[in-house]
Amino acid sequence: MKKFVKNFVKKFLFSVSEIEHRNKNGKKKYRLYNILGIKIKLNLLYWNLSSNKIYKLDKNGCKRLISSRKELKDFDGIQIEGENNELVLYEDTALLHFNARIVGNNNYIEIKSVKDLTTIDLLVGGNFSELRIGNVIYFANARIKLGGDHVKILIGDDCLFAHEIEIWSTDAHKIYDLATNERINPGKDVTIGNHVWIGRYASVNKGAVIPDGCVVGANSFVNKVFDEKNCIIAGTPAKIVKRNIRWEL
Ligand SMILES: CC(C)(COP(=O)(O)OP(=O)(O)OC[C@H]1O[C@@H](n2cnc3c(N)ncnc32)[C@H](O)[C@@H]1OP(=O)(O)O)[C@@H](O)C(=O)NCCC(=O)NCCS
Repeated sequence: MKKFVKNFVKKFLFSVSEIEHRNKNGKKKYRLYNILGIKIKLNLLYWNLSSNKIYKLDKNGCKRLISSRKELKDFDGIQIEGENNELVLYEDTALLHFNARIVGNNNYIEIKSVKDLTTIDLLVGGNFSELRIGNVIYFANARIKLGGDHVKILIGDDCLFAHEIEIWSTDAHKIYDLATNERINPGKDVTIGNHVWIGRYASVNKGAVIPDGCVVGANSFVNKVFDEKNCIIAGTPAKIVKRNIRWEL
């Protein structure tokens, strides 16, 4: 009888439920109130405002904390599940579709100006890690996975990222040495210098360093430290195929 009354109230008088909705811009969460058959939908913000912070960065480098619900709505694609994460986004940056999911804690994400054509899908899985993106010309679309603890992905100024670029500081899954039981594939920093052009479908993997002025060929897999500026790096695994070059738009 008790169950029947409970179900009756829930179905016909009053109920509250939370629903998730996924579209091409990311994931949204609503709270749905059902009062006497009238359904009211309330948008839920994804992050815990007290411990995670989003700042806007102005032209003079000043950070301003975003705290009003109205302004936070601009960051619809951002879903923060962890604690003590900080995002600093340049106020005029052209992030058409910036989808970020931050699962870990104590991470720092900074994106300065991105001029054009931008889609970034970011997943932050680890803790105490950093992603810093400078004044980039454009990301046609990129997927960035910042995984592992105390790991950095650093991208300089004046870079250009073609279509379907992957930048990963982690392999996501763990591999162990059978004899020692030690993990052999920990996450590692990724560094992309200034004025670097990354060709379409390229992957920049954990441990990669791409110096200033370099071009990465289409479909390449970059997983090593390069220390020579102004080179074309291409292939799988990527190697230097030309030296002493410069590139322009
Ligand atoms: C990297 C790139 C710009 C170099 O062009 P290039 O200077 O004309 O280079 P070349 O064609 O002379 O190639 C030089 C050598 O590198 C090799 N190479 C070039 N690109 C390569 C690639 N993506 N993967 C593997 N090897 C590659 C060539 O086979 C050649 O090797 P070889 O000397 O043994 O014959 C070009 O190959 C490329 O990848 N373009 C794609 C650009 C892009 O993605 N644009 C999207 C718009 S942002």
